[in-house]
Amino acid sequence: MTKHWARALITGASSGIGSALAQQLAAADTDLVVVARDTARLEAIAEQLTVDVEILTADLSDPSAVDTVADRLRSNEQPVDLLVNNAGLGFAGPTLETSDADDELTVAVNVVALHRLSRAAGRAMAERGGGTILNVSSIAGDMPGPQSGTYNATKAFVTSFSESLHAQLKSQKVTVTALCPGLTRTEFHERAGIPDMRAPSFVWQAAEAVAAAGLEGAAAGKAIVIPGVLNKGASRLLRSLPRNVTRRIVDAART
Ligand SMILES: NC(=O)c1ccc[n+]([C@@H]2O[C@H](COP(=O)([O-])OP(=O)(O)OC[C@H]3O[C@@H](n4cnc5c(N)ncnc54)[C@H](OP(=O)(O)O)[C@@H]3O)[C@@H](O)[C@H]2O)c1
Repeated sequence: MTKHWARALITGASSGIGSALAQQLAAADTDLVVVARDTARLEAIAEQLTVDVEILTADLSDPSAVDTVADRLRSNEQPVDLLVNNAGLGFAGPTLETSDADDELTVAVNVVALHRLSRAAGRAMAERGGGTILNVSSIAGDMPGPQSGTYNATKAFVTSFSESLHAQLKSQKVTVTALCPGLTRTEFHERAGIPDMRAPSFVWQAAEAVAAAGLEGAAAGKAIVIPGVLNKGASRLLRSLPRNVTRRIVDAART
């Protein structure tokens, strides 16, 4: 990593990619504010790290908890110069068969909370003369498929919104990066109700590799980072084809 951040706030730091990001940032001497629902897991992570770690327990589907996190981003006391919007979830299944509660939870965390926190951090960082926002999206945002329709659409939002902010905030020295991983070994698929997700082992990446690529890209001020050669190729292909062809490919791959 070529850039040093003084203090990073990471949502979803209790497991997977967020936990790997916390460890890599701490190794680079960045103090942390770690956010998730599971306080015990956040405490266990903080205990392993040698930097200053603030624990902020928050359910990001709850607007008042999102406000508390936004207030922390606005605070000029020990200011946050890197926001990582990483918390996210999704549920597999045809859209009309997933429960309203599950789909609305997905939108609340993946879209509404990320939107609110990006805006709060963007304003505060612009006023302070600079900063970095890293939003964890997914190559699923390029795949309007028959399964996980709501999840994939939330990630299309994250990529598009992040690209827009990237262009708007550049002149104020705030860089915004969308990290678009493909399949990554974390708790995500078990939580999504697909613990036996079938895909050849070579397409899976480790959370550590995804986190490292995200931090490199954010340090370099890139708009979009797609970790892994296979994911880059898949994303390029899906974006270059006519939409009706993309839809057919995604349909065929999931059925
Ligand atoms: N794994 C993949 O294949 C993959 C691929 C592309 C993109 N991604 C994206 O990567 C990001 C990280 O996911 P992961 O793969 O590392 O999965 P993970 O291991 O399940 O981690 C998800 C994190 O989000 C937090 N979280 C979930 N709901 C929350 C809520 N309501 N409020 C606050 N925090 C919440 C969880 O913490 P608590 O449970 O403690 O709250 C956990 O720390 C997500 O945005 C996901 O969409 C994952």
